[in-house]
Amino acid sequence: MADLDGTQTEKKEKEFHTQTPQETPGFFLKGSHQYDWGLKNRLSRVFNPKTGRTIMLAFDHGYFMGPTTGLERVDQTILPLEPYCDCLMLTRGIQRSIIPASTQKAVALRASGGTSMVSPDDVWEGELDGKPLKLSRPGYEPLSYEDTAVDIEDALRLNACVLAVQVFIGSQHERRSLQNMTKLIDAANRYGIAVMGVVAVGRAMARTAQYFRLATRIMAELGCHLVKCYHTDEDFDTITSCCPVPIVIAGGKKRPELDALKMAYDACQQGASGVDMGRNIFQSDAPVPMMKAVRGVVHEGLKPEEAYQMYQDLKNA
Ligand code: 5RP
Repeated sequence: MADLDGTQTEKKEKEFHTQTPQETPGFFLKGSHQYDWGLKNRLSRVFNPKTGRTIMLAFDHGYFMGPTTGLERVDQTILPLEPYCDCLMLTRGIQRSIIPASTQKAVALRASGGTSMVSPDDVWEGELDGKPLKLSRPGYEPLSYEDTAVDIEDALRLNACVLAVQVFIGSQHERRSLQNMTKLIDAANRYGIAVMGVVAVGRAMARTAQYFRLATRIMAELGCHLVKCYHTDEDFDTITSCCPVPIVIAGGKKRPELDALKMAYDACQQGASGVDMGRNIFQSDAPVPMMKAVRGVVHEGLKPEEAYQMYQDLKNA
């Protein structure tokens, strides 16, 4: 009965702080203030509470592209970058085989899949009047024929903070990809895991602010906790403004380092909550300096030119 003994013998008087009301702090992340504790805690591991932003390092491309340039050996190219990001966006195969379980980084787990870069177009081949005939369906978009690719229990075993699901608004399989997303949201909500809807731009879709406003808003309305889309040269602030949850930008195809840093900077100035960037980091001539430069722009208030100078100094050191 150590506790009872303690109440009688301890000299220190109790202090109830009766004059200090308990605080009721808000939550730092857009649209996330009414979630439960576990979900907020996971989001706080993905987004830095001091800046409200995140640097997600995306290297899940292999789930439909195979060993794309820069990801031939994830152990050699990605592990050196790990210390400088906030969150690893990856597949469960790479997580289990390559990423040390001792990592302190949050995990955004790729949770949709089932098609590849070489998925066949929807083509009918036959004969008409004795002559061969080949018909293809316009706008079929074979890549959009995805399924969910991870069970929620496996996501829990992998300690995922976020599940990432590809959504193909306006494509042949729009409905299917939206159902993948809502099914994952229902499962993830049971355990306080966040779902990130990834706007996949099909061949028929233009990368305009109008399209991204539509796509990101639909995903948020259907329950996504965060959304990933591309940056646009014009009106990107209207996309972030009318999306009630955080938006992170994908890097897209490799571009010159200064251009990539300007894009990350502009996106953050225009309301993005950070980046989910892959090729512009791991395909850079100097991936670790580039990763640090992106960090400078997203978290440390550097202007793109300052971050580029940092990139060059580190590269040449
Ligand atoms: C694959 C993805 C990638 O994670 C995404 O495209 C980010 O990578 P990058 O910056 O190379 O575009 O969602 O579909």
